[in-house]
Amino acid sequence: MVKFEQIKGFVFDLDGVIADTSVYHAKAWRQLAEKLGVTWTDELADGLKGISRMDSLDLILKTGGIENKYTEAEKEAFAAEKNTNYLNLLKDMDATAILPGIADFLKDLEEHDYQLSLASASKNSPLVLEQLGLAMYFKNKIDPTTLKHGKPDPEIFARGAEVLNLKPEECVGIEDAKAGVQSINGAGELSVGIGDKNILSEADINFADTSELTLENIKKALD
Ligand code: BG6
Ligand code: MG
Repeated sequence: MVKFEQIKGFVFDLDGVIADTSVYHAKAWRQLAEKLGVTWTDELADGLKGISRMDSLDLILKTGGIENKYTEAEKEAFAAEKNTNYLNLLKDMDATAILPGIADFLKDLEEHDYQLSLASASKNSPLVLEQLGLAMYFKNKIDPTTLKHGKPDPEIFARGAEVLNLKPEECVGIEDAKAGVQSINGAGELSVGIGDKNILSEADINFADTSELTLENIKKALD
């Protein structure tokens, strides 16, 4: 495995790692799923984490056995409706939505001269970072509209290292989604999974929540 001294950069997921926004995504998808008659389950909620807007809609329709029921134009309209629901939920969001320990961790990384990039599938990530007051940390963002493949494909995390001019093995990827951990592993970076260890069993390092995410704990896990 990678040595702690080898690490030069950190590639972050956003929703569910930096901020509590995965809850808002789930709420907005649930509104749409139930309107379409698709039963909401924890399994569906987990499967939706990390994947793109249209992949999410496809998974919901498939789960309900209605993947062939709608035209592309209707699907576009559903995706737009979900995004409107999501943006409404984001309206009053501020720095209080930053997950525990993340603000200190980002400060610590900057003070220790680590490089940072963002590998979020969300087209709303610039807005979210602005509202959280964290945009200054992420000058290196991957624009998800330029990707050929979504998570779990390695493309987004590979690009996260490339924009920092670092080799994958010099980077740590941080994720709360199974698809995201698979993307980090495929890119050849050290994967840190935040959340349920059973779901994120493929991660190199597991933390139960973001308050455990510190340089010291990463070093400890690698020693
Ligand atoms: C990911 C979220 O970060 O972004 C998913 O985990 C979301 O839940 C995806 O569907 C796409 O986000 P957006 O904001 O472009 O619809
Ligand atoms: Mg996430």
